[in-house]
Amino acid sequence: MKAKDFIPQSNLETIVTGKVTWQSPSNIALVKYWGKKENQIPANPSISFTLNNCKTITSLEFTRKKDSEQKGDLFDFEFYFEGQKKEDFKPKIYTFFERIEEYCPYLLDYKLIINSENSFPHSSGIASSASGMSALALCVMSLEKQLFPNISEDYFYKKASFLARLGSGSACRSVQGKIVVWGEHANINGSSNLYGVDYPNKVHEVFENYQDTILLVDKGEKKVSSSVGHNLMHDHPFSEERFKQAHKNLATLKDIFKSGNLNDFIEIVESEALTLHAMMMSSKPYFILMKPNTLEIINKIWAFREATGLPVCFTLDAGANVHVLYPEKNKTEVFQFIEDKLLGYCEKNQFISDSIGLGSKKL
Ligand code: PMV
Repeated sequence: MKAKDFIPQSNLETIVTGKVTWQSPSNIALVKYWGKKENQIPANPSISFTLNNCKTITSLEFTRKKDSEQKGDLFDFEFYFEGQKKEDFKPKIYTFFERIEEYCPYLLDYKLIINSENSFPHSSGIASSASGMSALALCVMSLEKQLFPNISEDYFYKKASFLARLGSGSACRSVQGKIVVWGEHANINGSSNLYGVDYPNKVHEVFENYQDTILLVDKGEKKVSSSVGHNLMHDHPFSEERFKQAHKNLATLKDIFKSGNLNDFIEIVESEALTLHAMMMSSKPYFILMKPNTLEIINKIWAFREATGLPVCFTLDAGANVHVLYPEKNKTEVFQFIEDKLLGYCEKNQFISDSIGLGSKKL
């Protein structure tokens, strides 16, 4: 599909008022998206595990403006986060609405009230933009579905992911599916730069219910935002090689998903995490998001893997927190290790237990 296919065509039903609610999860990338072109087009394809417990619940109440009320070109909305009115979150949402206006012009006809809450602590350093933007995009699509009842389920989810991408790139991977690919890749059928697709190929049973224990090393605000980081890839001396490498790693991961070879999985996933941070450390200006405890944890994971042979590995987001990934069948031993050896490096010993989830859900 092309971007213009998401511009609504047919006549509208008249819907006066209503409320919709969606829950949408966060996701953790295995092959990372870092670097983008105009209109939130990724510079390379990425793939992620959808999470289960880290999620946002968002409701959208909409009331059609009366003919006497000004429709104009301004979005009219209130935003509440965990019950509190939040003016400081509004500019981000306003920008999102502006970006999707062409595809959802009907939003201008409504007064909107958005209520959002996260299942994970707000100040956990866990990015809530993926779950938050995807939940909001899904709510917008539920309104669109009422206005255009004939849209298909396939169109609904593709457009939800398309809209979510315009809010926050990685959010497009939080809409549908356990493993999601975003960005065109020669070996992955249906892959698109415009939206995430449910990984279409065979996945070995060892990845069923894969575990992700998120170690909260640093709960502070990020010093450098992802948008700034993405932009630094434009003049980055290693960017072209990096983008090629992501294509290659995704192709290799496709074979690994089929074979279930966890040694190869670990090699790709850890290398991707460190490459992401290496790109940050070698951009201009350079920056470091890892903390000393991030490195302590990585070293402890390597030592534990060496000593036990258990297939536990780490990945990182654009932050200091560590995602510890391992098969469900090794849960007991790995969790014991995490408790004994890793929690001491976390802020107030905090962590989040998560695993692969199914994607978003209408409530
Ligand atoms: O979605 P954004 O623009 O916040 O970028 C997120 C990028 C990473 O989380 C670092 C990697 C990824 O693919 O999710």
